Amino acid sequence: MNIKNVVVIGSGTMGSGIAAHLCNANIPVTLLDLKTEISEKARERIHKSRPPLLIDKSKINNIKIGNISDNFDVVKEADWIVEAVVERIDVKHQIYEKIFKSRKAGAIVSSNTSSIPIKVLSQNLTDTEKKDFCITHFFNPVRYMGLLEIVKNENTDLNKINQLKEFCEIELGKGAIVCNDTPGFLGNRVGVYAMQIAMTEAFKMKLSVEEADAIFGRPMGIPKTGVFGLYDLIGIDLMADVLKSFIKELPKTDEFHEVAKEIPLVKKLIETGYTGRKGKGGFYRINKSGATKVMEAINLETGDYLPSKKIDIKSDKVDLSGLINRKDRYGEYAWSVISKIIKYASSLVPGITNQFNDIDEAMRLGFNWAKGPFEMLEEIGVKNFFNKVDDFSGNNFLEELNKSKNENFYGERQKYTNIETLGKVKKTAVRLDGNDSAKIFRFNDYNIVEFTTKANALDYDSMDALKKATDKPLIIINESMQFSAGVNLTYTMQFAEKNDFKSIEKFIKYFQETCKHLKYSKHPVISAPSGLTLGGGFEVMVQSNFVASHTNIVVGLVETIVGLIPAGGGCKEMLGRWLETEEAKKDPNFAPLKVFDIIGYGKTATSPVEAEPLKYLRPSDKKIMNRNSLLEVSKKIISENKDFKTPKELKFNLPGESVRIEMNKIIEKLYNEKVILDHGVNVAKELANVLSGGDTTINKTLSEDDLFKLELNAFMKLIETNKTQDRIRHTLSTGKPLNN
Ligand code: NAI
Repeated sequence: MNIKNVVVIGSGTMGSGIAAHLCNANIPVTLLDLKTEISEKARERIHKSRPPLLIDKSKINNIKIGNISDNFDVVKEADWIVEAVVERIDVKHQIYEKIFKSRKAGAIVSSNTSSIPIKVLSQNLTDTEKKDFCITHFFNPVRYMGLLEIVKNENTDLNKINQLKEFCEIELGKGAIVCNDTPGFLGNRVGVYAMQIAMTEAFKMKLSVEEADAIFGRPMGIPKTGVFGLYDLIGIDLMADVLKSFIKELPKTDEFHEVAKEIPLVKKLIETGYTGRKGKGGFYRINKSGATKVMEAINLETGDYLPSKKIDIKSDKVDLSGLINRKDRYGEYAWSVISKIIKYASSLVPGITNQFNDIDEAMRLGFNWAKGPFEMLEEIGVKNFFNKVDDFSGNNFLEELNKSKNENFYGERQKYTNIETLGKVKKTAVRLDGNDSAKIFRFNDYNIVEFTTKANALDYDSMDALKKATDKPLIIINESMQFSAGVNLTYTMQFAEKNDFKSIEKFIKYFQETCKHLKYSKHPVISAPSGLTLGGGFEVMVQSNFVASHTNIVVGLVETIVGLIPAGGGCKEMLGRWLETEEAKKDPNFAPLKVFDIIGYGKTATSPVEAEPLKYLRPSDKKIMNRNSLLEVSKKIISENKDFKTPKELKFNLPGESVRIEMNKIIEKLYNEKVILDHGVNVAKELANVLSGGDTTINKTLSEDDLFKLELNAFMKLIETNKTQDRIRHTLSTGKPLNN
């Protein structure tokens, strides 16, 4: 079966997201709703969405629109019809009746329902129709969430399901997991239970909202929204509906009922319009008094709001064992929550899936957890777990494991896919090496470096690992959300606070040296970015010999925003790229001015399509929809470059003073228009000095090292100023830029 044409019915949050993503994959798609105006609005929403649902906004009109009365004929041509209308069985049944009257024989029909079983959805269908019917449960936002649950039952044609899975994996880039028709499928069943246990235990143990979120967050490898933050994000009222649906669907004996009981405070929040971020606030709220905004958190006992407190649990790492063995309330809470999640998830095997492995993957792809419950169990250690855990009678999985005490019970990872993923190969590494900031996985014919810090921020150790791993072809790749958000500013500021600028200089020099080493090492270096690839992260990527980029990247040089300039080769490489253009050959000012504009504004691209015109990526760089495939593509690059030759060093003929005059005019204009303030002028002037080539003329040839020196000098001058330090401190504490 070839899927060449898709119709999506229902153009709300999910329907529009699915249509946009099909458009990303260049699949012809028509979006239908009750009225064409509704689909038209959906298309406008897609166009304006942030983060953007489209990889290439100019393709918006490839999404055709219409209504279900006048345009239903499009269904006749479709190979796959996705229903994403409101969660009402009567509406869905009416739509299916219409679809099955029109669809061509064999076309797949699927529902995006989050809670109605296939059995109920398909109750009016004939046996032949049932064969072609399934649930395709996408997650919001569709472009960015990796998980797609494909739900089947005993009537579904498994061949069709497998073909659909392959299409969704290869063409749409989804982690497509096939699962049984049980309430909440895999992701939500375990994910919502986990949220409920994290919440109810916090109430029981009298933890504050901030404390619970600090623990049920990064230290557990869970996104930093934690539990209460996530509740606010999803909508407290929506969560209440989700719980009601679970209560209705699940057998009375299911442990879920224990954690889904109504909580008076939650009920009151919903009743008073505190439904989360979309409402007046939720567990957190922003209190505006005059010009100041104060983040407040609710007291779970009294219901009063107080200024939110930052909780320092004295660890910035994902460290489960460390966490559960703490001898304090935090340790107790962590253990209680984790052990209950493990117990619940394992009690669902084989009922909801035969592969426990798939539950982990659903948590990873659908909830952005670093590890699923079974990997958490593996990390804690089987023996340690059973030494600590209380009653688990009736839980077959745990009873068996307790008998075997097999520490290696886990086996292969990512069983749902045949792609050779990073997750799979990691376990087969010949040797493991590395340090606190990066791991080196050594194989016979290549190495992998995986950064391991928060947001993969780079420090001295990250550079050390890269340098050490160039004894073979090297692939820089990771499994976390971000490739790298850039140089670790906290680390840099620790030196600045102590006036230890020598150490900063040493670090930047080492950063430059390492990037040069990557670029000119004997063996090819491949970067395989996904997510944030900013600042120093971009500099690592741009000085790799090859790039295999996921289509979901946010890439750019954003240093000026924190009062710095790129000093790890970012200015140099961007100049190099723009100097190659025809325009630059005619006009010596062209390249420096172009790069001044790009770096000066800290421009970012949210996809490879946006990155190419800025020259952050090149046409020859590989762009890949399925993140899982980054490793295979990178390995293919290695095998195709057996006779790799190190590139020639770049040479720069830059105009110096004459282009600085032009740049100064731009700076003056921006200052007069108050786009930039005093320090903005300082930063822009330092950038102008680097990009003009400093004290040079067009006939003088500069080397890469000359450019590195200019970058370093400018960086050091700026980091030593109070105003740059103010900018960094502000961004670190608020996540926002400071214009000073
Ligand atoms: P929504 O309320 O945003 O959109 C529903 C759309 O269906 C509206 O545009 C409405 O005009 C249209 N519609 C209603 N009756 C129709 C009909 N007879 N013919 C054509 N269009 C009709 O809903 P949302 O959030 O997009 O949900 C759609 C489905 O996806 C539901 O089954 C929901 O359970 C499921 N889902 C929702 C998720 C979410 O995060 N919102 C996540 C995963 C699944």
